[in-house]
Amino acid sequence: YFNFLIEKDRRFILDTLVNGLSRLEYRGYDSAGLAVDGDNEKEILIIKQVGKVAELKKLVNEQKSDFSKPFISHCGMAHTRWATHGQPSSLNSHPHRSDANNEFTIVHNGIITNYKEIKTLLEKKGFSFETETDTECVAKLTKYIYESQKDSNISFTALVKAVAKELEGSYAFIFKSVHYPNEVIATRRGSPLLIGVKTALKLKVDFVDVEFGNPTAETEAASAKESNSFFSPVGASHPPLQRSQSRAFLSEDGLPQPIEFFLASDASAIIEHTKRVMYLEDDDIAHITEGELHVHRLRREDGDSSTRSIQTLEMELAEIMKGSFDHFMQKEIYEQPESVVNTMRGRVNFENHKVTLGGLRGYLPIIRRARRIVFIACGTSYHSCMATRAIFEELTEIPGQTELASDFLDRRTPIFRDDVCVFVSQSGETADTILAMRYCLERGAVCVGVTNTVGSSISRETHCGVHINAGPEIGVASTKAYTSQYIALVMMALQLSEDRNSVTERRQEIIDGLYRLPGHIKEVLDEDTNLQILAKDTLSKERSLLIMGRGYQNATCLEGALKIKEISYMHSEGILAGELKHGPLALVDENIPVILVMTKDSLYPKVQSALQQVTARKGQPIIICNSNDDSLIKDYKTIRVPQTVDCLQGLINIVPLQILSYHLAILQDRNVDFPRNLAKSVTVE
Ligand code: F6R
Repeated sequence: YFNFLIEKDRRFILDTLVNGLSRLEYRGYDSAGLAVDGDNEKEILIIKQVGKVAELKKLVNEQKSDFSKPFISHCGMAHTRWATHGQPSSLNSHPHRSDANNEFTIVHNGIITNYKEIKTLLEKKGFSFETETDTECVAKLTKYIYESQKDSNISFTALVKAVAKELEGSYAFIFKSVHYPNEVIATRRGSPLLIGVKTALKLKVDFVDVEFGNPTAETEAASAKESNSFFSPVGASHPPLQRSQSRAFLSEDGLPQPIEFFLASDASAIIEHTKRVMYLEDDDIAHITEGELHVHRLRREDGDSSTRSIQTLEMELAEIMKGSFDHFMQKEIYEQPESVVNTMRGRVNFENHKVTLGGLRGYLPIIRRARRIVFIACGTSYHSCMATRAIFEELTEIPGQTELASDFLDRRTPIFRDDVCVFVSQSGETADTILAMRYCLERGAVCVGVTNTVGSSISRETHCGVHINAGPEIGVASTKAYTSQYIALVMMALQLSEDRNSVTERRQEIIDGLYRLPGHIKEVLDEDTNLQILAKDTLSKERSLLIMGRGYQNATCLEGALKIKEISYMHSEGILAGELKHGPLALVDENIPVILVMTKDSLYPKVQSALQQVTARKGQPIIICNSNDDSLIKDYKTIRVPQTVDCLQGLINIVPLQILSYHLAILQDRNVDFPRNLAKSVTVE
């Protein structure tokens, strides 16, 4: 957070930082910390605490009365951590510092892979380390380079550039220093970072030029042209900025204007302050001082984009609040009748049975000619690919392949120019999926993104794609994003197959099914109380749960089992019913709870035989079946769901499993929205 020309006391600044952290808590939450100026700008204070942001807030509140000194220019930083190197502890939490005087303080999201080499080098130079983190090495490296270059009056930007050149891995960093009061540097590679701008001024244009820093003799002329690197206010016409000049942010009458900058890894942290944001690209180095923002490049390369657009976000704060629900996950499960409509809005025409995805425009002919479509994702997003692969293949007749991003990379899977690769990711920032995307881009494949996050790395770096428009998903366990991803993929298959007459009727049947979907989901939500009773009476005391099904429902079983294990911590396994007799049947006896997904489709007779296999071993399955299927009522406990088209049935069947997992977690007194050891957005490999 950086304010310029707005007198704020540090209590306000602390509140801004802590509130921003609580909105980001879903990204990681084993410890939290912040840094603000001390009584003067040559002093930096760090406050850190292990545990959730609420713990940090308590600590800050205890000390807050000492923080009344106002500043008219101030920069503060904060971070909530999800441990990658070093145990969760107050010491290991961020901000990290270069030394006991806090000369350089930094916060970091990501992993520095060569930190051991840096640490060894610095130890040889006499540095000692107080934490086990990779981040501390970067703070100390900054001090080391600063000291070795001090005589040359190195600028903060040049210093961070020199540091960044030594780093391998992924990062988003914010740097603050007593040597550069009222300045802040932000840089990223591989981890997301955005800058929100709040000012009374209207910005003249919706983009900012990029200043390429530290020109050599050969590049000076080129960079001089590009050096008006600040937001231009309306009406002001500026002569080209000289490199050494500093100029405040000016209004029409030429007076400096108050301005606040908010830097964050996710828009939800800053949305309450401003909706105008600029996303930094990899290797951008943003320098903020005295109300100006300059963006430099770490290295200048041909083809570098020279503009960064300022986008106006459409997210409302209310959308990221819990409303009347107890937990975000519960709210998100209940939002599904609307979120699925939002995914289809403006894209599916239910009258003429047409689907139009604007984000694929221009690429449809190439995708239709693909020799195969490779779907790549992690976790729940991967399950949405599994759930839709069959209908994709059926409608498009293009062979489909589903890949877990990590395994896809481990195998260095062959990818060719005539492949189309689809990257599905709620956050658009999952490190494994991003790496897989870059791998495919390098090999010349057409890359399609399916994400929920406008401006995310995946939505920016893919050639084309579909935003699922499910609205912000805050609960760590993905629910509404799953159903929206599923629909987005079905819509893609529908659009790709629109010229195939042989599937016209099938397409119409599916589009009619999509029309009825919100009502069907509502019917399942109405079963909440019965599902709560089932969770309490039948499942909550169990240690393990098997969920079986086949065909379209294989993905439902895997996704249902993932939901249960991740938020209730009960062991749960999704089993392809066709594989039962090849091993898993050995687990079945009268004690182990089994859920069998047995809704009506062409595989119903085969699932009936799985039911017999289970009951023959004295298993007493709970059956997810269609409301109109009376054959099972008297012998089994059933969860009854409306029937729809086979390829959409998984969208309905997953909802009772989401609700069951929620109740199981509540009954076990688990932290539903923030399950242990997990983070919403896995931005590390
Ligand atoms: C589980 C869950 C995760 C994510 C996975 C990928 O409920 O949320 O399995 O699906 O980490 O995340 P995204 O979709 O953001 O790429």
